[in-house]
Amino acid sequence: MEIAGHSAIVTGGGSGMGAESARRLAGAGARVAVLDIDGSAASAIGSEIGGLGVACDVSDAGAVEAATIRARGAHGPARICVNCAGIAPAQRIVGRGGPAPLDGFRRVVEVNLIGTFNVMRVCAADMAALEPANETGERGIMIATASVAAYEGQIGQAAYAASKGGIVGMTLPLARDLASLGIRVMTIAPGLVETPMLAGMPEEVRNNLAASVPFPRRLGRPGEFADLVEHIIANAMLNGSVIRLDGAIRMQPK
Ligand SMILES: NC(=O)c1ccc[n+]([C@@H]2O[C@H](COP(=O)([O-])OP(=O)(O)OC[C@H]3O[C@@H](n4cnc5c(N)ncnc54)[C@H](O)[C@@H]3O)[C@@H](O)[C@H]2O)c1
Repeated sequence: MEIAGHSAIVTGGGSGMGAESARRLAGAGARVAVLDIDGSAASAIGSEIGGLGVACDVSDAGAVEAATIRARGAHGPARICVNCAGIAPAQRIVGRGGPAPLDGFRRVVEVNLIGTFNVMRVCAADMAALEPANETGERGIMIATASVAAYEGQIGQAAYAASKGGIVGMTLPLARDLASLGIRVMTIAPGLVETPMLAGMPEEVRNNLAASVPFPRRLGRPGEFADLVEHIIANAMLNGSVIRLDGAIRMQPK
């Protein structure tokens, strides 16, 4: 599908891979709404790219419905939906204080997995009401962000890995649900990417992580994620699957 002339929604667009995807889509001619729980980051990127920034917690059904109504009012219904909102707190199942608090696990699943489904269900309904955009019959495309942790979660990553594994697991059934409408669903599973999510780590830890990537021996760049987003949108045969973007890394236990 073309990017130019269409409306797009990017969640987690206030930072990292979401911000880079929002810039790329706007640069390619889309009208982009940036949704982020950090309202000032959403506004900053929204105004940088000549789009719209909306404060929105993706795990909240009403907030996503309201944000989508705002985006639709400004730009028309979105044909492109890129889901990057996510959190990655680490916690072992048993710590010094006893069992891990259940709310920590629940929040990660709510934001990463349920939040992705929440945004997709609302966007897909909007796309379903549109006429096809091209001769292939495409009405829209939705991209989710998993992680290599879906396959090789490390110590302390049970919640994160479960949430990302859930995204991997729902990719095919969502593509099947939406196939008759001409809406594609794809997931990107990044390895280690240099974003604010990793920036909190000490430099030595980041250098060690970078050295563990077989090739290229460095952290990934948000622009490489945006490259793949662009290609997935363009290539109509990509549907219902997960692409690892990881320089061949296979994560070790810790
Ligand atoms: N950086 C990595 O190495 C890496 C690797 C694999 C997967 N990922 C995934 O890629 C995605 C983007 O991560 P990033 O590295 O760009 O991180 P980031 O922290 O730079 O950006 C994540 C954005 O999501 C927003 N967000 C968090 N909770 C939200 C919520 N409830 N509602 C709306 N927005 C919310 C944050 O405010 C932030 O702007 C995440 O889903 C992350 O899990 C990152």
